[in-house]
Amino acid sequence: MADPTLVTLSGSLRKGSYNRMLLKEARAAFGPAQVLEGNLNLPLYDGDLEQAEGIPEAVTTLANLIKGADAVVISSPEYNKGISGVLKNAFDWISRVEGMAFKGKPTVVISANAGRTGGETGQYMTLSCLVPLQAQIISGPTLCVAGAQNEFDENGTLTNDHYLEVLATRMQALRAAAT
Ligand SMILES: Cc1cc2nc3c(=O)[nH]c(=O)nc-3n(C[C@H](O)[C@H](O)[C@H](O)COP(=O)(O)O)c2cc1C
Repeated sequence: MADPTLVTLSGSLRKGSYNRMLLKEARAAFGPAQVLEGNLNLPLYDGDLEQAEGIPEAVTTLANLIKGADAVVISSPEYNKGISGVLKNAFDWISRVEGMAFKGKPTVVISANAGRTGGETGQYMTLSCLVPLQAQIISGPTLCVAGAQNEFDENGTLTNDHYLEVLATRMQALRAAAT
């Protein structure tokens, strides 16, 4: 059987993002796969823009990427105890594309944050937002990397064995749901 396709989505756009580092670890824990990274750097959702110009190409590309995936992993920081605006904006745009890209899609949500709860509040809000999109949420032990600035080495490798174990559990469950 061909390797499954795994789409990774980072709720942080910055290059040095800890959530991007966590996604790198998630890919490794998932095992052999075709891995595609979704680009969430989209225009702000605006109904006037949609009416005048239609769905932006970057949104269609992202929705098609998710539609074609066997599994999706989202890693995102919380911002001010809520979902990242980047991620919410992407969800809002995706919900405007015909065909419900997330419907039935096995999806895992994880997070890394500087704070002591590792983005747990934002993670739960992200999970709530996935409900109307009808994603197949693959739950398991919660992975919230707290104090993220202390948990990755200079190569961006996660060094905490507990977090690595939880990540392995979550990604193996995702793989099982994808096949
Ligand atoms: C606008 C903003 C809001 C933030 N709110 C929180 C927060 O609610 N909880 C928290 O633990 N850290 C918060 N932080 C700090 C982030 O955890 C930190 O910037 C982290 O590195 C962001 O993730 P990234 O490395 O993937 O970009 C916030 C940072 C920004 C820029």
